[in-house]
Amino acid sequence: MYKYHCLNPISDAGISRFSEDYQETALEDSDVILVRSANMHEMQLPDNIKAIARAGAGVNNIPLDVCTKKGVVVFNTPGANANGVKEMVIAGMLLASRDIVGGIEWVEKQGNASDIGKLAEKQKKQFAGCEISGKKLGIIGLGAIGVLVANAATHLGMEVYGYDPYISVDAAWNLSRTIHHINDLETIYRECDYITIHVPLTDGTRKMINEEAIRHMKEGVVLLNFARDLLVDEEVLVEALKEGKVKKYVTDFANPTVAGTQGTLVTPHLGASTEESEDNCARMAVQELRDYLEHGNIKN
Ligand code: MLT
Repeated sequence: MYKYHCLNPISDAGISRFSEDYQETALEDSDVILVRSANMHEMQLPDNIKAIARAGAGVNNIPLDVCTKKGVVVFNTPGANANGVKEMVIAGMLLASRDIVGGIEWVEKQGNASDIGKLAEKQKKQFAGCEISGKKLGIIGLGAIGVLVANAATHLGMEVYGYDPYISVDAAWNLSRTIHHINDLETIYRECDYITIHVPLTDGTRKMINEEAIRHMKEGVVLLNFARDLLVDEEVLVEALKEGKVKKYVTDFANPTVAGTQGTLVTPHLGASTEESEDNCARMAVQELRDYLEHGNIKN
């Protein structure tokens, strides 16, 4: 009998992947842990733990150094929630370009006013926006999410520029035949109207969007961050919003620095919060743990 512990609840579709040989137990008794976003850095990791599966792509909530010392195998589920995040990025670009939220809020405030139709006609000018079609989108990081965003944005009429130091121009072309892959970030900063980041948080990428990077960006750029908050120096970014250098900051991370700040659109880490993404991640995570415990296989 194998024993598992879920630090975050996982979907029924994930749970159903365990066979009758599996039982959920307390952490102290478990062989393996399933985790979504819970921060494990302050946690005491019991010696019985053999593996941890992160139902998601990023593993920065897991103390990898401690796991390495203890011989704990860490899995993630790359690509399993990429579609959910892609759709949020596209929604983020549209929300930054059209004042849909402002328009909805205005209608709600009018309640059932009998002349609402007439009022709306007068008011709508203030909610006018711009189209994303025909604009340039820079994608930093051409992993599963970056490539899906590239394809979707191309279908919406955008011109897509990609940057990824870990893949060749040919590989990028094979992944998505729509990306102009370029090897310098400066061109992306200089040319693009929208820039979206899709890289993991590492010592090398922490605050990669800093004062210097923003200085090189196009006036009035829209910046999107559905990857990790610490990739962006948000203090600097708030200044850039005030100056109009950055027109909008769309982020999936609700920090006090940006929440409620003029020019920001902030969601509470919802990128992967779809039924489909949660099921895919949970299924893949359970499968990885089973393959490891039952057959010694390590993938992802
Ligand atoms: C990820 O790293 O894939 C996301 O943070 C997943 C999540 O929202 O839990």
